[in-house]
Amino acid sequence: MRPFTLLCTALMCSAALVACQMTDDPDLSGSDIPHLRKQGTATQLIVDGKPFLALAAELGNNSATNLEYMKPWWPVIVDAKINTVLAGVSWARMEPEEGKYDFKVVDGIIQEARHHNLRLVFLWFASWKNSLSSYPPSWVKKDFEKYPRAQTTGGKSIELLSPFSDANRDADARAFAALMRHVKEVDGDHHTVIMIQLENEVGMHGDSRDRSPAAEKAYENPVPKELMDYLQKHKDTLVPELRQQWEAAGFKTSGTWAEVFGPGRVTDGIFMAWYYARYIDRIAEAGKAQYPIPMFVNAALYGIGRGTQAQPSGGRPWDQVMDVWKAGGPKIDFLGPDSYSDTDFVAFCDRFTQSGNPLFVPENMGGPDGAARALYVFGRHDGIGWTVMGLEDPKLVHPDVDVIENFGILKQLTPLITAHQGNGTMSAVLMRTPNDPSQKISLGDFTLNVSFYSPPKMFGVPPPKDPPPPAAAIFIATKPDEYIVAGYGVKVTFTPNMPGPPLAGLDTVEEGGFVDGRWVPGRTFAGDDSDEGQCVMMDKKGIVRVTVYRYR
Ligand code: DGJ
Repeated sequence: MRPFTLLCTALMCSAALVACQMTDDPDLSGSDIPHLRKQGTATQLIVDGKPFLALAAELGNNSATNLEYMKPWWPVIVDAKINTVLAGVSWARMEPEEGKYDFKVVDGIIQEARHHNLRLVFLWFASWKNSLSSYPPSWVKKDFEKYPRAQTTGGKSIELLSPFSDANRDADARAFAALMRHVKEVDGDHHTVIMIQLENEVGMHGDSRDRSPAAEKAYENPVPKELMDYLQKHKDTLVPELRQQWEAAGFKTSGTWAEVFGPGRVTDGIFMAWYYARYIDRIAEAGKAQYPIPMFVNAALYGIGRGTQAQPSGGRPWDQVMDVWKAGGPKIDFLGPDSYSDTDFVAFCDRFTQSGNPLFVPENMGGPDGAARALYVFGRHDGIGWTVMGLEDPKLVHPDVDVIENFGILKQLTPLITAHQGNGTMSAVLMRTPNDPSQKISLGDFTLNVSFYSPPKMFGVPPPKDPPPPAAAIFIATKPDEYIVAGYGVKVTFTPNMPGPPLAGLDTVEEGGFVDGRWVPGRTFAGDDSDEGQCVMMDKKGIVRVTVYRYR
């Protein structure tokens, strides 16, 4: 049997058997509630027993607090080929009086989503939202003695519930457990709600760490044994920035935070990351005890820097402190980057897939940039999902044709993508400009030489848009000599990477699409449409099936 086929078969057999142990949750592999499962090197979200790709949109922060407001938007969401909606659940709206829960809006959103055949990821807007606390109910906000605030240098309180207060934590956890108990009751058999985001873009505000009395006491205390044990156990696989910080202070195995990691704002961030992770882990635990669907946190990336040098995170769930979040938050399934940066998306995907962290992008811009990223997340990083932010924001372009087109391609490819995730038979590129270097991708028996496609100047053909939109394409080796290329703006040639005749030629090039997983060919390309057989040209957004052969 040829090496490529052997590889696939072996990987596919082993992958299917291994359920995911991302957290120390009970083994959910057999259950049919939404859960995570390993396939080869990938982690997949399983919904109704099948791998699910979340083609998602996030509503405005408060859109899901009013059912009438949402009414006109559901058809828009469906038309945009979105299959998952990220919707905020406000603690204040859900528990206006202590212990009295109002689930009317939650129920309405679930029913509407189910009616429109959509899945939901609820965003638990509770203790924290964007590093502040605008979503706790009044009875929490007003009782600041019982529910203390974080403080900045000089003891100045800020509108941020302190992560060093058990009362804050337990009030949030009780409410969240009530929400998950209710979601299980009303949706446990339907699985409309597939995941939960815990809080939103947490992290210290206005200072590098909380300076409240409880926080200062914790800072002077020794680093908790659980964290020291984790660091020693994972010493060789820690994210480089954290390891450097610990090494620079002498790899101590005990001592205060400043002794173990060295004094300073980076250590303040490590300290805050531990306490945010511990706090949110307790909320996840309370919720999963009721209904253990996957739960994650999202990260704002402002100030994160370009890697290599740790930055003061204020506790944000950045890759640099990913190990601290994993040690402190074993009930949290993954960290999701809200990457709006124009330039560093590819780097952020690499950084947030370290240590086996599955890639789910909870927020991103739309348009050609966002749409290109969606292809890259699923094809290059076996992503669980990608989300366009603020779907119904009147400021944004509606409909977002680029996102809709790419979601259309991803929807067609879902059975193929989920079959190949984690098996080394799929990859993708994202090229922002024609100046981006070409890439070599070894996939199956051939190496794909991928470059940014610049259409040849043709008489009578208007010059292309300047600057051209970013190029992105997914490549799937479906057979030893057959590939699916899906996307836009790239040119691909092939080179054999196995012993045998040294040259590769294009045998067949077909445009087409998938209907219920079955290939439906369109035109067959040669001549102008393959540069006389020299390359696959994705000058038009779409899907192409290519077979290659070798000669000398
Ligand atoms: C990121 C936050 O997560 C969102 O809720 C929103 O506040 C955007 N920033 C800004 O619109």
